Amino acid sequence: MKNIDSRTHTRGESIYLDDIPLIQGTLFGASFGSPVANGVIKKLDLSEAEKAPGVVKILTYKDITGANQIGGIVPDEPLLADHHVDFCGMPIAFVVAESTEAAHAAVKKIKVEIDPLPVITDPREAQALGQLIVPPRTHRLGDTQSAWQHCQYIFDGVAETNGQEHLYIETQGAYAIPQENNALKIYSSTQSPRATQQASCKVLGLPMHQVEVDVIRLGGGFGGKEDQANAWAALCALAAHLLKKPVKYALDRMEDMAMTGKRHPYSSDFKIGLDKDFKILAYEVTFYQNAGAAADLSPAVLERTLFHCTNTYFIPNVQAVAYSCKTNLPPNTAFRGFGGPQGMFVIEAAIVKAAENLGVDASVIQQINLNKTGDEFPYGQLAVSEARACWDKAESKFDISRIKVETEDFNKNNRLYKKGLAMMPICFGISFTNTMMNQGRALVHVYTDGSVSVSTGAVEMGQGVNTKMLQVAAFVFGIDSDKVKLQSTSTSRVANTSPSAASATADLNGKAVFMACSQIADRLKQVIAEEMHVAAESVTLKDNHVYINNEKQDYTWERLIMAAFFKRVSLSEHAHYATPEIHYDKLKEKGHPFAYHVYGTAITQVSIDCLRGTYEIDAVKVVHDFGVSMNPLIDRGQIEGGIVQGIGWMTMEELIYDKNGKLKSNALSTYKVPDIYSVPKVLDIDFLDSSYDNLAIFRSKAVGEPPLMYGIGAYFALRNAIKAFNPSAHIPLSAPMTPEKTLMALYSKPLKP
Ligand code: MTE
Ligand code: MOS
Repeated sequence: MKNIDSRTHTRGESIYLDDIPLIQGTLFGASFGSPVANGVIKKLDLSEAEKAPGVVKILTYKDITGANQIGGIVPDEPLLADHHVDFCGMPIAFVVAESTEAAHAAVKKIKVEIDPLPVITDPREAQALGQLIVPPRTHRLGDTQSAWQHCQYIFDGVAETNGQEHLYIETQGAYAIPQENNALKIYSSTQSPRATQQASCKVLGLPMHQVEVDVIRLGGGFGGKEDQANAWAALCALAAHLLKKPVKYALDRMEDMAMTGKRHPYSSDFKIGLDKDFKILAYEVTFYQNAGAAADLSPAVLERTLFHCTNTYFIPNVQAVAYSCKTNLPPNTAFRGFGGPQGMFVIEAAIVKAAENLGVDASVIQQINLNKTGDEFPYGQLAVSEARACWDKAESKFDISRIKVETEDFNKNNRLYKKGLAMMPICFGISFTNTMMNQGRALVHVYTDGSVSVSTGAVEMGQGVNTKMLQVAAFVFGIDSDKVKLQSTSTSRVANTSPSAASATADLNGKAVFMACSQIADRLKQVIAEEMHVAAESVTLKDNHVYINNEKQDYTWERLIMAAFFKRVSLSEHAHYATPEIHYDKLKEKGHPFAYHVYGTAITQVSIDCLRGTYEIDAVKVVHDFGVSMNPLIDRGQIEGGIVQGIGWMTMEELIYDKNGKLKSNALSTYKVPDIYSVPKVLDIDFLDSSYDNLAIFRSKAVGEPPLMYGIGAYFALRNAIKAFNPSAHIPLSAPMTPEKTLMALYSKPLKP
């Protein structure tokens, strides 16, 4: 089935926040962000801005009617700066005016005097000063201390990954509309309607039933709107509440880039030990996460870095320590993979360092150490592994030995062009690592004409979750998909939802849809049983008809619904699903946090122009563990998008903050994201159907985040191509590998011993 949004998307008819028809009297916001990354506010002068044309009111922290606090995990983030600023772009004042242009013009007239304090942008520096967001965490398996003596080879080093701008096509924004008795309706571009509702209520000092958050769809979230949609909604809500007028604020691209947090940059130390057969016996790693100026989701992201620090390898002795370091950058946040990619890059870097020193191909070490079913992850869960199956299928299906020979031949015959190749196996745990969040709900109504309305806590952001929800309902009722409509995600219809994140949205909400529809279907079958004097178990619903003992009856779905309605049978149901089996003990750092894992292997091939340092991604060939995909078209799209986004992070997207904490790469002219030309020329995706039972909806495994990590292969393929040109090149294990860095590496000299 096609994505149900594809028609309106391609016709430009899909409704995003900015397409919602405006109510008369709507006012428009713009925020004034701190020009300084750390300092004490001496004087805020709003006088000229207040006099600017069209300005209705300028809000500061003094106008907040509830708490000046939007921190989700840790209450450490004011909505509007009071006496102190912690990062460049931190909102200090919110201008409300008759037009967006007037609001922006007034922002330019605000003057602030700030006594600057020392700015820290480096996580290691912050850690050395004891500036941590939360206490460090450690995952342990076996005993690395005693394992080192059994290692034949030991290597250590530093690995670094930069952040990543989400660059959702739709920027952050919200539209708050006052209702009677101080209530509010907020349209928001948020992945987490509940969090947006809660943060707005906290800032306004209202109970949550006074505020409805409604989400039609997002033009992309990628984690950037899991927590960071809240500030803009709260600002609009506050202004609407005080002025009793609708207030809208959609950030422009440069505001969004400058003010919002991004993927966390990490700097990490590793030490890896192998036996004579290249089995990894011990691995120690210390992660320094650059959290930015407030916690946001950093502690949760840090946790997932630890969970994925050994990627898909079984290592018997592991010690992983992670620091969440407080710096003067905008608070960094969720981004597809949620810290997992950062952890996986380091183990891959360690393996590559070992391989290069031992003079073997990294794939030799990777392959020997893939986990098997029953192997223990450092956090105590036992693997149900598809690692070997994916790897082997990738090798045979794509004929890796031929690719290797062709690459070597090409490199022998070409002096100024070189090719590189890398394998990237992945393993990603599905479930929120915070067990409490693994719950989903759905509300299903069947109307008397037989049409069906489904509301869930799932937010559609391009990943196709609404299509999957529709498939579940249509399947259970045995009706055509055009009889089912997915409603917007509203906190009034489905309450207390978890964010649409962790790739678990289809599982959590889909299971709830399944339960709600099944309960209605059971009642409908009972109606038939009574009317036709048959056993309810003999009744099935298929192709818009009633079947008895698999025989089609002259009895349509519509007639059945009317029959049930006449009998006063409820045609509505609300269901709640909570993932079974999962648990985690944070004190012991052991448990069974994931419903299941997703596996896969990618082969990445690149070519470098060794005069210019420019490169192309020739091919990415993947065998991916989909379970039994319930929508191969959508799932393939997720893999393709994830790979390209991962390649962007690893190769071309370079976030640059200057030493004063100001974002230099603050526009699309200075921040390069993958375009159509940087998409791999060949993208070959093969399905590994793993048919054993799992906890996914219809056994169709989650697919949103895992493929991003295939992109890591592009970094190492480029590295191999550089080495083919200059075998003694010195290449720091630091991503992204931009063309500039590639050029430097091509002509670099080895470090002096
Ligand atoms: N795909 C599109 N098109 N747009 C997005 O914003 N977000 C990604 C992924 N795929 C995203 C996307 C992220 S970060 C996550 S966690 C999942 O989708 C969320 O949706 P799911 O749980 O339904 O997979
Ligand atoms: Mo995704 S980073 O869990 O929103």
